[in-house]
Amino acid sequence: MDLQRVKHDISNGGYTIFEADLSEHTLAQLKERCICSQTEFFPAKIGRRENKQEDTTIRGDRILWLNASHEVDNTYLTFMERFRKSLNQDLFLGLFDFECYCAFYPQGTFYSKHLDSLRGKRNRVLSSVLYLNEGWESADGGELQIFDQSGACVRETVLPALGMMVLFLSETVPHRVLPTHQPRYSISGWFRLRGSTPCLT
Ligand code: OGA
Ligand code: MN
Repeated sequence: MDLQRVKHDISNGGYTIFEADLSEHTLAQLKERCICSQTEFFPAKIGRRENKQEDTTIRGDRILWLNASHEVDNTYLTFMERFRKSLNQDLFLGLFDFECYCAFYPQGTFYSKHLDSLRGKRNRVLSSVLYLNEGWESADGGELQIFDQSGACVRETVLPALGMMVLFLSETVPHRVLPTHQPRYSISGWFRLRGSTPCLT
């Protein structure tokens, strides 16, 4: 990973795509964590706080929040913590902490076009997604599509391939997950600002 390029891409275009500096072993452990903890996953909801609801016409993934007391989760949380510090050094985003969940998209599910954070709420500043799918091909669907700020034009179509990471600005980069034709695993996370409310509840 070229940190300078990451910072340059985010400052200029709002997003970046690169191969994460995680060993094959760690990626395999994270994948296993997703697969073996399936019973603990619950349907992802949309909306915030009291307005949260399940709606598979908008998103069909199942999620599990990572937990620092779990060894494998902690490996990833520690990696992202180091990353947070180096991003803060030059980007001046004031990233304060990080939260993330494993997401599992069963065959046929998707996530419609959305922003991860509403402008002005300033809770989530920078979104991250790490993909955990070996040998993924275009025919498998499930691509992430990144749009321009207006949401009218696709700027990037990303295969959710093992070890690839995407970072984008949570308030200004519309994106969606196309219907997947294979079970699809990833870890979605957000760097947040000080004083914002965790979305964990
Ligand atoms: C999300 C999301 C994109 C992806 O979890 O909010 O947009 O490619 N994920 O999994
Ligand atoms: Mn999103």
